[in-house]
Amino acid sequence: MRIFSGIQPTGAKHLGNYIGAIRQYVEGQDRGEPAIYCIVDLHAITVPYEPARLRERVLDTTALLLAAGLEPERCVLFRQGDVPEHTELSWLLTSVTATGELNRMHQFRDKSAAQRELISAGLLFYPVLQAADVLAYRAHEVPVGEDQREHLELMRDVARRFNARFGEGLLVVPEHRIPAVGARIMDLQDPARKMSTSGGSVEGTVYVLDGPEAIEKKLRRAVTDSEDPFAIRRDPAAKPGVTNLIDITAAARGVDGDVVLAELAGARGYGDLKLAASRAIVTLLAPVRERYAGLRSDETYLDAVLEQGAAKAQALAAPVLADVRAAMGVGSGR
Ligand code: TRP
Repeated sequence: MRIFSGIQPTGAKHLGNYIGAIRQYVEGQDRGEPAIYCIVDLHAITVPYEPARLRERVLDTTALLLAAGLEPERCVLFRQGDVPEHTELSWLLTSVTATGELNRMHQFRDKSAAQRELISAGLLFYPVLQAADVLAYRAHEVPVGEDQREHLELMRDVARRFNARFGEGLLVVPEHRIPAVGARIMDLQDPARKMSTSGGSVEGTVYVLDGPEAIEKKLRRAVTDSEDPFAIRRDPAAKPGVTNLIDITAAARGVDGDVVLAELAGARGYGDLKLAASRAIVTLLAPVRERYAGLRSDETYLDAVLEQGAAKAQALAAPVLADVRAAMGVGSGR
């Protein structure tokens, strides 16, 4: 089973990213043949960004992933911009991508609505590059968060259309893997919306690199409800804040929500739930934060990890690109 996923370069990953994606990456190392993880600097340039900061953010993300448990010997961890096969395949795939589909993507609509000046063509083509990321490796499985469902559907359409046009079996039509637990970690201040890097409040977002005090403070201030007498039970519609805290606690500990509820049977107020949630989160994240500090300061090591990862990635993607070029009749064929 070949696994592929991409992650945006930023050190400011939050609990939703960690539970929804990063933790799955770590588990994927046991099953992946291989598990391939790509830090997508080329996707990061589709919105306004600071060139001088981009490489730093890639290193932040590399250190974070290593701190979370990725091992360079057990997976392929690399930077997208180091492997030109991604950009080449994305162009080749435009021949089987409909502009109408790209225009309809929710992420494109949301992000372009948020742009003040330039809506780049890159923003529109973002899902094509994402399709190329995965298809260049003939990956079978793509662990992603719920928000990537639409991009995955497009990718599958593109792969099917490519195969129908240029030859069955040339590309693998990948499956997405969206975690059942922890797919929906909501903002602590606004439990109707997902925890997110853009748009959410700092107080409502728990970052992977937050220290224990920050985590405890954010949890103490989490929005619940004023049911009187208070009631700890899962009810996403009527009690979104309380439900979120139960789900976070369960996901952080890797247990069922019922286990959390049973433990809180004698609770005297929501304070007990908040305490249980912050303990679970601190236990989950503290080791990652501690390892991060040491890893991030060794840039020579991080550069070496990325360089070796890129060499492994390119060795996997180059033969696929050769097949694709040959089937499409582009280049000399030699
Ligand atoms: N668009 C994804 C995100 O924002 C990141 C990504 C880029 C990706 N390429 C990918 C995810 C390929 C899965 C597979 O989270």
